[in-house]
Amino acid sequence: MNQHGKPLTSVIEAIGNTPLVELSRLTKGIDGRILAKLDYLNPGFSKKDRIARQIIQDAEAEGRLRPGQTVVELTSGNTGTGLAIVCGIKGYPFVAVMSKGNSMERARMMSALGTEVVLIDQLPDSRPGQVSGGDLELVEREAQRIVAERNAFRADQFRLAGNFRAHYLHTGPEFIKQSGGNIDAFCDFVGTGGSFAGCAAALKEHDPSIRCFVVEPDGAASLAGEPVTYPNHRIQGGGYSMPILPLLRPEHIDGYLRILDKEAIDMARRLAREEGIFAGFSSGANVAAALRLLRTSFRGQTIAVILCDSGLKYLSTDLWE
Ligand SMILES: Cc1ncc(COP(=O)(O)O)c(C=O)c1O
Repeated sequence: MNQHGKPLTSVIEAIGNTPLVELSRLTKGIDGRILAKLDYLNPGFSKKDRIARQIIQDAEAEGRLRPGQTVVELTSGNTGTGLAIVCGIKGYPFVAVMSKGNSMERARMMSALGTEVVLIDQLPDSRPGQVSGGDLELVEREAQRIVAERNAFRADQFRLAGNFRAHYLHTGPEFIKQSGGNIDAFCDFVGTGGSFAGCAAALKEHDPSIRCFVVEPDGAASLAGEPVTYPNHRIQGGGYSMPILPLLRPEHIDGYLRILDKEAIDMARRLAREEGIFAGFSSGANVAAALRLLRTSFRGQTIAVILCDSGLKYLSTDLWE
């Protein structure tokens, strides 16, 4: 039985509706609250299950995806895992194109889910665990080649509205409902910008005074208009040094926060030890950014964040010592 009181027809229906938890141990002695959405509890252990479901549903509804057609996407692992689940259930062969710089747990999980995983070498000056914008360009080129070769559907998470809509229709409204509408600010580490854009649109539609902050790696804050001095940061899943992201809308951005690798890592470790929440680097970045807001201009207020993926995805890295 599930929260709807009846068995689900497939695990796709188990995507979303994740719990919202107040991080009251981490904020002890600090004036204010952090409300964290546990999106690592999705079936593929990340928030990206949501966009996989929406992108495929939208493409089906609009006739852009034929029965049995191959689906292709580039991924840092999480969107690919979501698509592996959704495509596997719905009968679309799925090809995931991923940089070797991402942790290998992800590739193995996608293979286990029946996906064809194509791994792309990093640039000569890149290091494993540090996927740069340049590395991502190589992955993009190969994804485009496979789409043309197989006449496939490109589940383009950087451009398709399904990425935005997943969060606009679901994640954002869930935040509002679960918090009773009591949110003063939202901050989010940006990869494609889909989570930020969708949640910010829903939150501001509910209450235009909610402030929304883009979180970027220190040294790779290109959305904030800064020069990129540290493209090979450690915060996997975003911070790709792309100054323009098609899904982001400037009118939703109230400010930019820069987070150091060390802050993200320390906070991911604190989340595990102090809150019993086993999440990844970007979740650490989001909570570190929220704590900074509480210590500065948002003292006494309520900050909402997404905990993007599971710490299990980083067992092969030095996130967990
Ligand atoms: C672990 C993780 N954190 C954050 C992000 C960024 O999310 P978005 O693409 O919605 O900006 C991603 C995206 O792949 C991710 O995998």
